[in-house]
Amino acid sequence: MTEPRYHLTSYGCQMNKLDSELVEARLQQRGYRPAVDEEDADVVLINTCSVRQHAEDRVWSKLGKLRVRKRTEPSLVVGVLGCMAQEHKRYMLSRMPHVDMVVGPSAFGDIDDTIEEARVKNARIAAERAPANTRHEVFGANMLSVDDGVSGDRIRRDVKVRPVKSQAYMSIMRGCNMPCSYCIVPTTRGDEVSRPIATLVDEANRLCDDGVTEITLLGQTVNAYGRDLKGQGADLSKLLRALHEIPALRRLAFITSHPNFLSPDLITAMAELPKVAKFLHLPAQSGSNRVLKAMRRGYTVERYRKRIDQLWAQAPDIELHSDWIVGHPGETEEDFEQTVQFCKEIGFAQSYIFKYSPRPGTLSSEVEDDVPTADKERRNQVLLATQEELSIAKNRALIGSTVEVLVEGQSKVAGRMTGRTAQHRLVHFESDDAGLVGQYVPVRVREALSHSCVGDLLAQDAAEESARDRAAAAGAGSVA
Ligand code: SAH
Ligand code: SF4
Ligand code: F3S
Repeated sequence: MTEPRYHLTSYGCQMNKLDSELVEARLQQRGYRPAVDEEDADVVLINTCSVRQHAEDRVWSKLGKLRVRKRTEPSLVVGVLGCMAQEHKRYMLSRMPHVDMVVGPSAFGDIDDTIEEARVKNARIAAERAPANTRHEVFGANMLSVDDGVSGDRIRRDVKVRPVKSQAYMSIMRGCNMPCSYCIVPTTRGDEVSRPIATLVDEANRLCDDGVTEITLLGQTVNAYGRDLKGQGADLSKLLRALHEIPALRRLAFITSHPNFLSPDLITAMAELPKVAKFLHLPAQSGSNRVLKAMRRGYTVERYRKRIDQLWAQAPDIELHSDWIVGHPGETEEDFEQTVQFCKEIGFAQSYIFKYSPRPGTLSSEVEDDVPTADKERRNQVLLATQEELSIAKNRALIGSTVEVLVEGQSKVAGRMTGRTAQHRLVHFESDDAGLVGQYVPVRVREALSHSCVGDLLAQDAAEESARDRAAAAGAGSVA
């Protein structure tokens, strides 16, 4: 018998993508093979996101297509995983008989068993020509498996599912306890659960033994890490220090931080530890105190600015990234103008900009969505243009300098490779040497675009020189 083939599509945040990697690892260990085209797969899995309506709409439309496909292919297994599975489980279970599995986030510990069971039963149903609508009842008992435990560490990760062998993500916590009025994540992901430092050091060591040199720590409020680990004194600064000791590790990043938890200890750790990435994803969401209050973000523009001043006093080379929501209920032109000004004033290197999308059950969705769609669209464009100018200026400032790039793969442009700097800037350079993937190479920047730079690959001795410079700079910058 040929091995079963699966196809998995991920929507949503980095955490969802990491969950998908873990599911793929499980399936591959079980003998499943990935199908390049979804049409060729025996098992179609969709790992979903509920954060905005648009993300959900794409999945509803995909499920509509799968319903049609399943009419002629009753043995096909369809699984919905992730945040929409949590949010819409009742509807999916009662109204979508073509969906075989509905699995909430972090409940992937035994997913291969569930999938295998569904596949065997579907094959039997197909053979017996049972009517399609019995399928739901057949699987009713096994379909729903929702818990918010941390299951990632139970799944061995296989290099095959890590797109770049030297890069890995590690979920250090799950869930979110913040009260942001617009956000569905606390509902879909549940309460914060942090994993102990010892477990994480262990996992990082295993990853590094397997060739990883860059680890990105993941959490919805990653810098609130540890506050649920009562009595253990665990926080992100201590975790960074512990991971920093791993000799093979060269870069250590973390996303996403919340302004309220940018503590003096974390700032000091970022300033002192040379392996810690030189960027901080610290979403501001808005530059208007009125809107921040309505969003229940728990800080003001002044407080955000003060924290950044403290950060830059100790670590001036850290670049800031932000998320913004435009058109939150009640946002006036004046509020929006303050957002544009704040974005310019801080000089963010990169921003993700979202048009407000009401999420059922959230506080913001209870007030009227009073910003017209056309205004949301215009504000989105204005803020995008503002950020683009800032990003180009930052990239231009790099022209002529040599940066260290961790090579991630081939660029979309033929004959070019792509990678990132320690500040997470995307850099392309001429080369078709696939052997460079996973290596740290020196690139001299010659051209600046809005989302990337283009440069020339230098000989390796220049890399050593730049490493020596970095070490000297880190030594000079460290606090005794
Ligand atoms: N935990 C992270 C990010 C969570 S979701 C944080 O708090 O920073 C990623 C981004 O989606 C958020 O930062 C926010 O900008 C955006 N977002 C969340 N809910 C939204 C909604 N209802 N409409 C539009 N954008 C939203
Ligand atoms: Fe959502 Fe706020 Fe939690 Fe981020 S901190 S996930 S925006 S509730
Ligand atoms: Fe989306 Fe869930 Fe992540 S709602 S942003 S996939 S936590």
